[in-house]
Amino acid sequence: MSDRITLLSKREIDKMRQAGRLASQLLDYLAPMVKPGISTQELNDEAEKWTKAHNAISAPLGYKVGKVHFPKSICTSINEVICHGIPSKKVILQEGDIINIDVTPILDGYHGDTSRTFLVGEVSETAKKLVEVTEECLYRAIEVIKPNGRLGDIGAAIQEHAESEGFSVVRDFVGHGINRVFHTAPQVPHFGERGTGKKLRPGMVFTIEPMINEGTHEAELLKDGWTAVTKDRKLSAQFEHTIAVTHDGVQILTLSD
Ligand code: MF3
Ligand code: CO
Ligand code: CO
Repeated sequence: MSDRITLLSKREIDKMRQAGRLASQLLDYLAPMVKPGISTQELNDEAEKWTKAHNAISAPLGYKVGKVHFPKSICTSINEVICHGIPSKKVILQEGDIINIDVTPILDGYHGDTSRTFLVGEVSETAKKLVEVTEECLYRAIEVIKPNGRLGDIGAAIQEHAESEGFSVVRDFVGHGINRVFHTAPQVPHFGERGTGKKLRPGMVFTIEPMINEGTHEAELLKDGWTAVTKDRKLSAQFEHTIAVTHDGVQILTLSD
């Protein structure tokens, strides 16, 4: 990964917003299907069909990090899965599960990357709390972004909130710059210290995607080469937006309207 951060023009940010809107609308489309009894393969197939019908391409399908291509169109990460869960017809949603669905359509060359964690029917108090706090972490991070601020401000906002609620922040996966390239500079840690790290500048576009755990922050990679799980197999939740730093603050690019 190059460590040069690309600054996008107004026009390019408009293109990112169009891709981002499509990504959010795709999650809106999948949301009502998140019910006990559906397989993650069915969610994948619905997402793939919808994406094609909207003249977009699923970035995850065939995406390569190291040697292994990701085999599906979306990531579906249930309960102890931190991220990059692989849809399968053998994985059926059960009452009480939490599931993160992470989508990244490419529209006219630009990537829109967003994810939400959904509750499957009635879930435990702990699961509900974890999901709520994780979403709050994302929004608290977005609120502190301003030009001439620092990347560390983002991680600090997330870490303070998560840990004050008794949860932990995953270290092994970070947010990322995104444009015509899926994953590029800068890396955006979800932990850290205020006032440290690279300066935020208008035109920077990156994701914030905190993964917050019920127990240990430590992760383990399963043998499929993708699925990351919590070391203690306790719950993990995640929310993600793609954002742009603007002259007077920040804009969320992955909103439906
Ligand atoms: N959408 C994920 C992210 O937020 C990346 C998925 S890569 C895949 O960065 F290959 F696992 F799909
Ligand atoms: Co991302
Ligand atoms: Co994503």
